[in-house]
Amino acid sequence: VAERVTIDWLGARGDGVAATAEGPVFVASALPGETVEIERAGDRARLFRLETASPDRVEPFCPYYDRCGGCVAQHMSSVLMAQWKRGIVAGALEKAGLVTEVADLVDGHGAGRRRITLHARQSDGAMRVGLMAARSHDLIEIATCPVTEPALAGASAVAQGVAQVLARSRKPLDLQVTATGGGYDVDVRGHGAPSERDRRELTAAAEALDLARLSIHGDVVVARREATIDMGRAVVLPPPGSFLQATAAGEDVLTGLVRDAVGPAKRVADLFAGAGPFSLRLAERAEVHAVESDGPALVALDRAARATPGLRRVTTETRDLFRRPLLILELDRFDAVVLDPPRAGAEAQVKQLAGSKTPVVAYVSCDPGSFARDAAILVRGGYKLELVTPVDQFKWSAHVELVGVFRKAAVAKRRR
Ligand SMILES: C[S@@+](CC[C@H](N)C(=O)[O-])C[C@H]1O[C@@H](n2cnc3c(N)ncnc32)[C@H](O)[C@@H]1O
Repeated sequence: VAERVTIDWLGARGDGVAATAEGPVFVASALPGETVEIERAGDRARLFRLETASPDRVEPFCPYYDRCGGCVAQHMSSVLMAQWKRGIVAGALEKAGLVTEVADLVDGHGAGRRRITLHARQSDGAMRVGLMAARSHDLIEIATCPVTEPALAGASAVAQGVAQVLARSRKPLDLQVTATGGGYDVDVRGHGAPSERDRRELTAAAEALDLARLSIHGDVVVARREATIDMGRAVVLPPPGSFLQATAAGEDVLTGLVRDAVGPAKRVADLFAGAGPFSLRLAERAEVHAVESDGPALVALDRAARATPGLRRVTTETRDLFRRPLLILELDRFDAVVLDPPRAGAEAQVKQLAGSKTPVVAYVSCDPGSFARDAAILVRGGYKLELVTPVDQFKWSAHVELVGVFRKAAVAKRRR
């Protein structure tokens, strides 16, 4: 039975939420202020008829939007999207009892995503390649994804070409395609070690598709050109499948915010450094110690640093910062600490940081929830959370990133 509700706010996944007598109901693709007829199933509902449309409703630009699970916010104005994402960050901070300035959302989309992960599945004897549908494991076959850089326009065709070769394994595959300075860099997941025949055929496919590099689970099958990524003045050859910020513009925005926070610091620690987008830019002014658990990423960082003229000293350390965080005494050597942990945050590391004397901490996060938890630990340790800037690198998705800047005043030495 259809039911009429008015949408009150946007949920964390972009659904319109109506407060009803039976509790909140989540309506996909409905916007605040809209009156809609819905068909309810538990606390979720299908938008059955839009009665009054919000002035913030816009026409989605992607032909796959209504089916694809990647984007959730193409039907709202950019103003509403920015308010919504800033609100997710502000809400997480408030929930953790943190009071601070939250800046407006900074757009980090630029020319688009430089990496896309396509999925390949067997169906009726053929290998189908596409993106996941919303809330299901169905595949949406796409020609191109308009949220990616123009350079990735051929990503689907490339993934299709590689998946065909591996079709006889009948395994579902994930194909990560990255646009690099050398062309397409493709890393395949979900396939075991390739046989000799697989290798031969993959090498031929890489030739036919003109790939820069093709790897399976990070093991290089063929490297035809250097799959480089520019990071500031440095040119990095990241290992296949290693972490990469989603857009070049987003990486620049995050680095700019980190650089502003760090200021004239002479010695900087870059924790969860990856292949070095922050380290390599900060080394233009400061000595940098980069720490990360992915050894090959640090090898790439180190090579790039050595090959770039004019950088200050960059040292690297392979270390699991969940199990072996930098200790207070190690942290006290630095004028500033930058950290950019995975979604889970950096609880163990932050517990050490809280007790340190490091005057500035710039915390880059892709998860407002784990950030707020960690921020509260730093604040209890005497840091002031000065500013949080939300950054939109995954535009039109429900993700939001941020940079938080913490400062601790030097404690005056006690006279004896
Ligand atoms: C969000 S990425 C950031 C990487 C880099 N700062 C960048 O901007 O490209 C998080 C990084 O943390 C690393 N990482 C994950 N778990 C870790 C751990 N337990 N100890 C150290 N590094 C870890 C990952 O390998 C990844 O490079």
